[in-house]
This record gives sequence, C-alpha cells and structure tokens, in this order.
Amino acid sequence: MNDETSETVSLVRVGPVLVATVDNPPVNALSHSVRVGLVAALQRFEEDVDCKALVIRCDGRTFFAGADIREFGQPVKEPRLGELIDRLDRCDKPVIAAMHGTALGGGLEIALACSYRIAALDARMGLPEVKLGLLPGSGGIVRLPRLIGVPDALTMIAEGGQIGAEAARDKGLVDEVVASDLRSAAIDFAQRLADVGAVRRTSDLPVPAFDEGLLDSKRAELAKRHKGLKAPQIAVDLIEMMTVTPFVEAAAKEYATCRELISSPQSKALRHLFAAERAALKLEDVPTDTKPRDVRKVGVVGPGVMGRGIAACFVDAGFPVILVGRSAESLTKAQAAIRKLYGGSIKRGSMTEAQLDERMTLLETTTSYDGLANVDLVVEAVTENLDVKTEVFARLSAVLKANAIIATNTSFLDIEALASAASRPENVAGMHFFNPANVMKLLENVRAVRTAPEVLATITAVGKKIGKVPVMVGRSEGFVANRMLSKRSREAQFLLEDGATPRQVDKVLSGFGFPIGPFALADLAGMDVMAAARNARIAGMTLREQSCNIVDKLAAAGRLGQKTGAGYYLYGEDRKPQDDPAVDQLLATHRAERGFSAREISDEEILERCLLAMVNEAAKILDEGAAARPGDIDVIWTSGFGWPSHLGGPMFWADQIGIANVKEALDRYSRIVGEEYFKPAALIERLASERRGFHD
Ligand code: COA
Repeated sequence: MNDETSETVSLVRVGPVLVATVDNPPVNALSHSVRVGLVAALQRFEEDVDCKALVIRCDGRTFFAGADIREFGQPVKEPRLGELIDRLDRCDKPVIAAMHGTALGGGLEIALACSYRIAALDARMGLPEVKLGLLPGSGGIVRLPRLIGVPDALTMIAEGGQIGAEAARDKGLVDEVVASDLRSAAIDFAQRLADVGAVRRTSDLPVPAFDEGLLDSKRAELAKRHKGLKAPQIAVDLIEMMTVTPFVEAAAKEYATCRELISSPQSKALRHLFAAERAALKLEDVPTDTKPRDVRKVGVVGPGVMGRGIAACFVDAGFPVILVGRSAESLTKAQAAIRKLYGGSIKRGSMTEAQLDERMTLLETTTSYDGLANVDLVVEAVTENLDVKTEVFARLSAVLKANAIIATNTSFLDIEALASAASRPENVAGMHFFNPANVMKLLENVRAVRTAPEVLATITAVGKKIGKVPVMVGRSEGFVANRMLSKRSREAQFLLEDGATPRQVDKVLSGFGFPIGPFALADLAGMDVMAAARNARIAGMTLREQSCNIVDKLAAAGRLGQKTGAGYYLYGEDRKPQDDPAVDQLLATHRAERGFSAREISDEEILERCLLAMVNEAAKILDEGAAARPGDIDVIWTSGFGWPSHLGGPMFWADQIGIANVKEALDRYSRIVGEEYFKPAALIERLASERRGFHD
C-alpha cells in the first residue's frame, strides 16, 4: 500500500487498484484543486505499470455535485474539466466511478467518461445544468444518449431530471448497484477488471436509433412548460446535432455552446437565484450553529382553506398532524377536502388509494385544544381578525408545552400584537403560506421582535423539510410579497382609469413572463374576494385609490370572475377570457365619473409602472429591514408570485436596468401619476448617487 495526498484528492493503492478519493466539502464540487488532483491521479495511474485499475470516489455526503458554480464567470483555470474528461476517455486501463449521494453535472460527466460506473443504492444521477440556464459542456450531451438512448437523455439534459441508481442500471447508465459499503464493492469490482484489463469507451458507442419526431414534440412541450427559457431549446438542438456529428466535432460544439451560455443573461439570473435561495437560509442575527428545536408533531388550528392546505403540507412530509376546528362538521368537511387535494395524484397514478389512506392516518382532527398538549409546533390559520386570533393565542398558551412554537399564518395582521397575546412571545413567529398552501413553494417566515433565534432557525428548517422555499421577513403590513403585489395591483387599476384595457395590461405582464396577467388572475380569485380584500384595507389608501373602485363595480354587477362566467373578461365553455364591450362601457363610465379622460398608453408605460412600483416598495422594505437582503426579495417573487426565474427577480431586474435609470423613470412617473405613488425610495436615491445596484 502506497499513499499520496494532494489538497483535495488522496491516493491509496490496494493491490493492483489505485483508489483516488476526493474530499472537497460540502458537495465535492469540481473546483480547481480537485481537477488538479484528479489529473495528477490519472498521471500516476498511467505511469505505474503495477496499477491495473483506478477507482474514483468521493468522501462526504456525495459524489461530485458538479462544476464549482463559484468559478463561473471567472477566467477558466487549467486544467479544464473537459481536459480531465478527455484524458479519462483516452486512458488505456479501466477507470471505475463509484457514485453515492447525488452525481450531478460535471460529476456525472466524469462518470460517463469512465470505463465502468457503479452506484450506491440511494445514489441519484442527473445533469441539472439547464436549471442554471446552462448545459453540460464536458461530454454530457455527446455521451449520455450513447448510453441510455435519446429519449431518456432528452429528459435528463433538457429538463434536468434525475434518476435513481436502479433505474440508471436498468437504462444502462450504471453497471452495478451496491447496497452496502460502496468503497469495498468498487475495489472488488476493479480487482476483477484488473485481471482482464477491459477498457470500454462511451465515445466509441453508436447513438441508438430513435424516433426523430420526438425532437420537435419535445421542443413544443418545453416551450410551453419553460416559457421564455433558452437553454432547454438549445439542449434539444445539441442532442439533434450529436446524433449526426462525429464525436470529437460534436464535443467541441457542446463545449462552445456551454461557454456562450455561461455569459448569457438568463444563466446569470438563474445562478443568482441559486445563490440567493441558499443565502436566504442564513438568518440575520441567528448564529449559524443555532440548533433548531426538534419538531415531531404539528398542530394546525383552523380547518379553512388555508388550514387544510397547511395540514396537507405537513402530512406530505410525514409529520403527524392534529387539526383543530370549532365543530365536528367543519372537521369532517376539512378531512374530505384534504383527501380531494390528492385527487389529481390518484388520477395521474402517482399515488394509490392505499397510499392516500396511509397518509390520512397521519391526520387527526379534534375540537379540543387539549389535543395540542404534546405538539412541538402549531400553525394558527383561523379567520383573519385580530380579536379572533388573540383569543386563539390565549387558548394555545394555556395548553402548549413550554417550548412549543406558535406560528401564525396571518397575511396582514400585526405580528407584535399577536406575540403579546401569547404567554411566551419568544415562541411566536409567523409562517405565511400562500394559497393553495400544498402547492405554492414560497413560505414567508416572519420574525417578531421577541422571537427567539432558536425559533427562527426551527421554522426555517421545518420550512425546508416540508419542501418549501422559506424566506425570513420582518414586521411590515402585508410582509413582503403581498405588500409589493398591492403596489402592482394599484398601478394596474390606475392604468385602467388612465385608458388601458384589462387585455392590454395582462398581455404586457404575461409577455414579460408572468404566468398570468393581474386581471385574468382576479377573475380566477373572484371579484367578491378581491373587493373584500380591498375594502379591508381601504382606510390606509389615498383618495385616488379609495375612489378607484372598479372591483366593487364589477362585483356589484354580479361579474365575480370565472365562477360566474364574467369578470374583467367573459368566459365560455373553454374558460378562455374574451373581451367584453360591457367592461369597456363600465370603464368609460367610471372614468367619466372620476374625471379621467382615456389616453393612449404604451406597453412600455404599463410595464414600467407595474414593475417599478414594486421595486420602489421593495427598496422601502429593505430600508425598513423587513427583508434582510435584495436576494431574499428575488427569491420571494420568483418562488411565490411567478416572476420569471430567468429574469432573476425584481431587484436583479432593476440592477440590470441600472438604478440611475430606475430613478429617472420613477421621477418621470412621479410627475405623470403623482409623487405619493412614485417618489423614489431613499435607498434608490442613495444607490443612484453612489452609482451602485441593489446587489453590489
Ligand atoms: N458548486 C459550488 N457550490 C455548490 C455547488 C456547486 N456545484 N452545489 C452546491 N453548492 C454549495 C451550496 O451553495 C451550499 O453552500 P452554502 O451553504 O455555503 O450556500 C452547499 O453547497 C450545500 O448545498 P445545498 O444545496 O444547500 O445542499 P443540499 O443538500 O440541499 O443539496 C445538491 C445538494 C448538490 C443536490 C444541490 O446543492 C445542488 O443541486 N447543487 C447544484 C448542482 C448543479 O447544478 N450542478 C451542476 C453545476 S453546472
């Protein structure tokens, strides 16, 4: 046995097998030092005639999770990953990749260039680059289809899908799946090969035949599912190219495309979000070593629409849940409604009735608060009324154990007032879910002044466990998402008064990349709901906002949206929104009553007013400290309210426009619409004068 070690790669000889072990925490990214270490390992392997096989493996939680994202956008440092991989491909002795954890991106590309691949039973493999607006550039595209065929490779490359070890073996990506001690199994495997010296090169394999019509149908499907995203379409083009191009030429095209994508605006935006999502988990004023409390059992109070969705989130993640309601009838109704939430999964066949029955056993319902005595976390989701919630907080305080957390799902009420209603305010925080709670990824966790750091760490950890994207926000009316949304809604309404049509506004915003425009969305939510939400906040509105009551007028006319077949639009059987002259008339009358004359509004004005109103509000939110970082706001809007991820979120978008231009536009709209709506926030003034962006 003969040991050698570099900074991140250590070498050990076991008989005729050389074992290269990489240790580059946390996820064994293929950083420069790893590439240097692996090239040195290969050199040693090639030169040592006594070494007959090489095993590449990783220590820690995972095989390589890909290229080091932190190196993107910096000058490439030799050796490039592609060089290392070419060398692996040319090696005339067998190399075995031993994969555990997640073998992703460049990590899987390394494995693809090895002669053999073995995997731990729980390993997962994927080429997720597309999710960062990139594509594999070191042989993933030219090798994977040769091993598993074009249809499966398309899914993995153009959609970033992962597969597990057993599926990978069935598809021909992996040679052997190992249930225990991967390292020993890899060495045994290599020893067997050492005797025969069998080298296999993926690059020598032909591309299996496939139905070429698949490429166009995939293009159409991806255009629909990933609106505006370029990388998935380019992935299909490259896969088509590799099927008809000699290997070396195709590999060069793959690399050149990957380099181009690295500097594309879409990839920069998506990489920004990748980092921002992770940064959002690092909480201000909460030491990183703060241990979250153990949460084993959860209570949910209030079996309404939100409470049901929230209960389903926890049940889905395997938490036993006690749902508390005021009457047995409301609880029976809730139970049936929760079962119904899974109707789609049952229909699609992704869940069986038996699995659903099993899941429902995690849900207990009761009308008594006593059942909550041993829960670790309660989410309160009762009526949005301070008196009602205050009473619930007092009742919870009487039964909960000392370190149980009370999280309110309030959207607009004052979190401090609620904390004061509990006997232990340090245990009170907000967990603001969005409707439908079992579907929407965003979770605004809310810190009150007295919330204990340990509680903040706990609700963040729990948020992740239930598959949400948790972002911590502070006290602020409407928190972050709804507060910014209300400014966009205000401008959308004002634009109607100024002469725009619902269709024009919706078209501009969905053209920007939102999945749905604000008026089509209002028709979906229901005008009665919109009117009630508006009237609940009318006291804090300006005179123009108060009298901009188009929503009330539509509701009064029975135009409640899709549910009544008419709202801002008319709806037929196909539920497609049609323009309605009656709405034009209603708007014309409204303008005449309020003294507005309709003018021609440009698409540019619509976009700027709707989006800059949000950005300006976000700047105030940041200045008040209700959001910790601009990136947190980007995560909130991309994971919650449909801001297109490839545009990086509102703050990233504002930086791309340039803060000086943002300020100039805000000044312009201050003159056109009014200072009270568009006066640049102090932070924007400061940043513009310092020539900095939100993210600098
Ligand atoms: N390069 C550099 N750092 C990476 C990385 C990469 N490819 N992948 C993850 N990290 C970092 C994260 O930023 C995080 O660091 P931080 O805590 O300092 O922010 C840390 O590794 C842990 O990652 P996290 O995502 O929080 O852990 P997880 O266990 O939930 O998920 C992965 C692990 C590997 C599945 C996930 O990080 C992932 O999907 N990474 C990206 C893989 C990828 O896209 N590879 C192709 C790159 S082109």
